[in-house]
Parts: sequence; structure tokens; C-alpha cells
Amino acid sequence: MTVMPRYDFYGPIHKGLRLGLSRLMLRLGSQDFTDSVSAAALLADLRAQLALSAAHLEHEETHLHKALDARLPGAARTLEDQHRGHQTRFAQLARLMAALEAAPVAEHPAHGHGLYLAFSAFVAEDFHHMHEEEAVTGPILHRLFADEELQAIEMTIIASLTPDENIAYMRLMLPAMTPAERAGLLSGMKAGAPAEAFAAVIELAAKPSLPARDFDRLAGELGIAA
Ligand SMILES: [Fe+2]
Repeated sequence: MTVMPRYDFYGPIHKGLRLGLSRLMLRLGSQDFTDSVSAAALLADLRAQLALSAAHLEHEETHLHKALDARLPGAARTLEDQHRGHQTRFAQLARLMAALEAAPVAEHPAHGHGLYLAFSAFVAEDFHHMHEEEAVTGPILHRLFADEELQAIEMTIIASLTPDENIAYMRLMLPAMTPAERAGLLSGMKAGAPAEAFAAVIELAAKPSLPARDFDRLAGELGIAA
């Protein structure tokens, strides 16, 4: 008997966030903080990632936790406590980045190392949190909601994104997914989203974020020109 997999609410976005955070973790560890130009580019990318991470927490709270609490009061409490912890980390990381930028260049490596350590603590906490959501909350969602309901919640989140935010999340999610997951997500989008929105995701997210071989395979599966 084949068991149909349930709708994976957290999987794709969490894979993308893990990829984005892991890449930054590696870059922060190997960055020469006396090189002001590349360090500034790294801090800009770090700020952009933290903005996506913060917006993701807000999406879950506004669209998912309210629905979850309505069916099982208190079920989102632990997750929301963990989100508060993340917000404290975001404020700490913002302070550390500003302090680095305000310091003389000779002190940048020491500030950079402090930033690396604080970011590693955030990544550890966020990985633990996302694991809790997928391993503990995921099965609760499947018990309390039909797949169509979870999909509808997901659609309200997607509808709340600006086009730029949508592309930024897609740039993280697509290279983080398996080829089959990628083709599944984008064939759904090809069938259901406006043609321009789908074309923008292909041109601005899939093409620049995937190795050529993976993009060609995806284009073949979607029936679009590579
Ligand atoms: Fe969360």
C-alpha cells in the first residue's frame, strides 16, 4: 500500500533558511575583517538574511499560530517563547554589527569574532527551534488540519509577501530542495500563479541560484525553455 505524504508546511522554507544560515556561518568564520569592502558585503548579506528570518517568524505567528491556538489552545506557546528568544538575538546581532562598523579597522577582527560566536548561538537556537516545529508541531498540524487547510494558510502567507521577498525566499528554498521537491513546487506555481510571477521566479530565483545541470533538469521537468 502506498501512503500519500501529508502536506509539508514547514519543510521547504526551513530547508531554505537552514541553507542561508549555514552559508553565512561559513562566510563569517573565514572572513578577513580587515578587508572593509568584502566585510561590508558580508554584513549586508547578514542583515538581509536576518530580515528574512524575522519576517518568517512573523508569518508563522500571524497566519499559523493563531489558527493552531484556535484548535488547540496553548499549542503555540513554546514556539512563541522560542521566537522571543530569536528576537533578543536579532537585537544583539544588530548591536554587534553596528559596533563593528563604528570601531577602528584594527579592532574589526575582534568584533568579527564576537559576531561569529553570537551568530553561531542564534543558528544553534534556530536549528533547534525549526526541528521542534517539524518533529513536534508538524504531526500536531496533521492531526488538527486537513492538507487543504494547511495549504490555504500557506497561500495567505505567500499573498502577504512583496515580490522582492518572494524572490529572496525562493532563492534560498530552490537550491536547498531535492530535484523532485523543486519540480513539484514550481509545477504547482506554473499551474496556479500568474504567468509573470512564475516567469520572475524562474528568471530571478531558479536560474541564478541553481547549478546549470540542475536548472536544465528542472526546465525539462517543467516543460519550459532552459
Ligand atoms: Fe518558528
